[in-house]
Amino acid sequence: MFWYGIMYKKVQTMMLLERYRNFLPMTDQTPRLTLGEGNTPLVAAPRLAAALGVRELHLKYEGMNPTGSFKDRGMVMAVAKAIEAGATSIICASTGNTSASAAAYAAHAGIEAIVVVPSGKIALGKLAQALMYGARLLVIDGNFDQALRIVFELSDRFPITLVNSVNQDRIEGQTTAAYEICDALGHAPDGLCLPVGNAGNITAYWRGFSRYCEAGMITNRPKMLGFQAAGSAPIVHGVAIEHPETVATAIRIGNPASWKYALGARDESGGLIEAVTDEQIIAAWRDLARIEGVFCEPASAAGVAGLRMLLEQNRAERDACYVAVLTGHGLKDPGLAVEQFAAPESVPAEIGAVSYTHLTLPTNREV
Ligand code: F0G
Repeated sequence: MFWYGIMYKKVQTMMLLERYRNFLPMTDQTPRLTLGEGNTPLVAAPRLAAALGVRELHLKYEGMNPTGSFKDRGMVMAVAKAIEAGATSIICASTGNTSASAAAYAAHAGIEAIVVVPSGKIALGKLAQALMYGARLLVIDGNFDQALRIVFELSDRFPITLVNSVNQDRIEGQTTAAYEICDALGHAPDGLCLPVGNAGNITAYWRGFSRYCEAGMITNRPKMLGFQAAGSAPIVHGVAIEHPETVATAIRIGNPASWKYALGARDESGGLIEAVTDEQIIAAWRDLARIEGVFCEPASAAGVAGLRMLLEQNRAERDACYVAVLTGHGLKDPGLAVEQFAAPESVPAEIGAVSYTHLTLPTNREV
């Protein structure tokens, strides 16, 4: 049908790898793989900006990617390049989102995914995704850093492509988020706030902004403002953490693979990488949902938590434009959200039995 042809063409032009092909390692042989990743909303957040006391704040809502996290941008590129090179199997270590994304793109491409995750420290939704997408799942009695060492060795010994962010195709795919932000704003922001775990994303954003600047698409590059969880802050302390801890399990990482690139991004941009406490992360996480209607996962709120901290300490410009990257969707980990509130008490289903005092109202913190 005629209309179908038009719609199909439109979808084609929207495909992430096609849209930014001049900035990506694409060849004519690269499979045009897609689950509809990228093109995520840049949500203006005027109410939160006012609460924080800053002129402009936008939220790059990466939870709106097909598997609910920013990992899909890098994974579509990495899996496409792996297939181009003849791979039939991919492997990764993960705190949950990378494994969900790897499993989904492997399923879509018809290849095998092997995912290694830390026992008990991965949000249920992420585990459900890896299982449903049919990945071969290995749960280890250890943390992410130990899982990463295992997959390094396995990919060395066997013909399996490693798709952790040490894979440069992953990083390249993730640069697309920087291009989208500049395209949406018409310029680069003054500061980019984001969580830092294995440090691939801060590496990718900086590479993306730098490349867009070199290409003349933007005239300035933002300060990279990265935030680790206080119990998992190796880059902040300058030393690997053997037993990282944080409620934000996605960034529970003690020895980031892209450590040195993250330092480069920080220093070249005149930015910083600092620590935020679990309490600051939870407060920002709840405020994002309650004040702006944007529900992300706890780790994703580290950027906003960090920006608030810098503003409170008068260490960030108030008359400036900030973008906070919300890396994953809130529904990945609904259990932690529900735990924030007292269990609602049920009352008889009669209007006479219902009063205003029975309504469950959020235990809001003041902003
Ligand atoms: N936010 C979320 C929701 C994540 O899942 C991750 C990393 C990060 C932030 C940090 O990004 O590692 O590029 O610095 N998750 C990885 C995983 C480690 O296995 O899913 P990073």
